[in-house]
Amino acid sequence: MVAVAILAAGKGSRMKSDLPKVLHPLGGMTLIERVLNTLGGLSPERTLIIVGHGAERVTSTLAGRPGLEFVHQAPLLGTGHAVQQLMPRLEGYRGDLLVLNGDVPLLRPATLHALVTQHQQAGNAVTLLTACLADATGYGRVFCDAHNRVEGIIEHRDCTPEQRHNPRVNAGIYCFHWPRLAEVLPRLQSQNQQQEYYLTDVMQWLRPAAAVDVADSAEILGINDRKQLADAAEVVQSRVREGWLTAGVTLIDPASITIDETVHLEPDIVIEPQTHLRGQTQIQRGSHIGPGCWIEDSHIGPDCRVLYAVVSQSRLARGSRVGPYAHLREGVEVGDNCRVGNFVELKKTSLGSHTNVAHLSYLGDASLGSQVNVGGGTITANYDGHQKHPTRIGDRSKTGVNNTLVAPLTVGCDVTIAAGSTITEDLPDDCLAIARSRQVIKSGWRPRYLAADGASVNTVPTQPSL
Ligand code: UD1
Ligand code: CA
Repeated sequence: MVAVAILAAGKGSRMKSDLPKVLHPLGGMTLIERVLNTLGGLSPERTLIIVGHGAERVTSTLAGRPGLEFVHQAPLLGTGHAVQQLMPRLEGYRGDLLVLNGDVPLLRPATLHALVTQHQQAGNAVTLLTACLADATGYGRVFCDAHNRVEGIIEHRDCTPEQRHNPRVNAGIYCFHWPRLAEVLPRLQSQNQQQEYYLTDVMQWLRPAAAVDVADSAEILGINDRKQLADAAEVVQSRVREGWLTAGVTLIDPASITIDETVHLEPDIVIEPQTHLRGQTQIQRGSHIGPGCWIEDSHIGPDCRVLYAVVSQSRLARGSRVGPYAHLREGVEVGDNCRVGNFVELKKTSLGSHTNVAHLSYLGDASLGSQVNVGGGTITANYDGHQKHPTRIGDRSKTGVNNTLVAPLTVGCDVTIAAGSTITEDLPDDCLAIARSRQVIKSGWRPRYLAADGASVNTVPTQPSL
């Protein structure tokens, strides 16, 4: 029987941020969400989250997750004080309590599982996760006797210079037998460098207390400042890249590529340098992405080619080509085998199959059929200053170079629009539309103009100096 408590009330002053520390994102998820995700296999009986600083933002971020109990801590008097807030909630509870620091986001579920199992098999009062670090600065040091039983934890700030040489650190992850912890919690004092009630001080009263070293010390990295957040991001990225390389994805210059953990890729995809895949992005087999792409919350079908492009909240079907220098904003649906080319911006626009928007266009709130060819420089005038209006273009139609399509507008199927036209009225199927002033040619115009101006007809006008 295990309940879980996550300590997430702290201010996180060293982050120097308006955002509560546990809400800082790391690889596509906030720190607190990561901690929650490590609970996967444990199926805890209860999950309590201690909130304080920015409590409302923390609770609203986690609103979609059922079964969480929020416990308020105020004022914030330290990690021991945070756990004391659980006493009324857990009155009468006889099982174990897994306590996790909300700012330790890289734990693997298997590590937590092993911690709980060892704790329960040994019947300990407390079992805590430890690691030996080359640079243990900032962490509490764990002191053990000759039989590897924990005698106590001393915070970095409270250590003597000799004690700081101990490389064994407290990860901030503990499994307690709750009734025994509840018994000693009221004894905590705050006579230390930070004048706080330290949870770590309970170790002196709990026996047996065991320490379990984690195999990969990167797992216990605590996030107190931006440098540690950046270090953690590097750990996440190297885990993610390794995972995709093993799964059959080619990464060219992996160090220059970032992929959120929430992204899903299929085998035989090639990702070129300086490509960043974010959020709920999915990419299907055979697609070739980058160099230089930002793809966020988007679905890229099989065999697509995306080059130097920004794609957000959009979908590409099979075999489409996007870029270089294209921007697909939210709500774009590109059909099979389309081409979205250089300097093209699309917003809330759908393209049927084999439709091309190859050069210098903006299409907003538009739906295009199949085999449409959009001439270079075609722009939808979709906004009248108050409202957005739709544009529809039927199958096999062809807009001309530099067309302005003033919405709301419906262009039928098999329509051709002349270059330079501004189209303000709907066009029926199967027509040619020309909406521009006729060209006028006036022969011998320059001599007559000069004569009218009083200059000699034969005078060659002087070039203005450049
Ligand atoms: C803590 C441990 C330290 C350990 C390190 C591991 C203590 C006293 N020290 O130090 O031994 O090596 O974590 O990363 O526990 N929190 C609250 N309420 C509070 C104070 C903090 O909920 O009043 C939460 C914070 O939001 C954070 C966690 O507790 O998620 C740890 O607090 P933090 O101040 O970061 O402790 P450290 O100094 O890192
Ligand atoms: Ca910390």
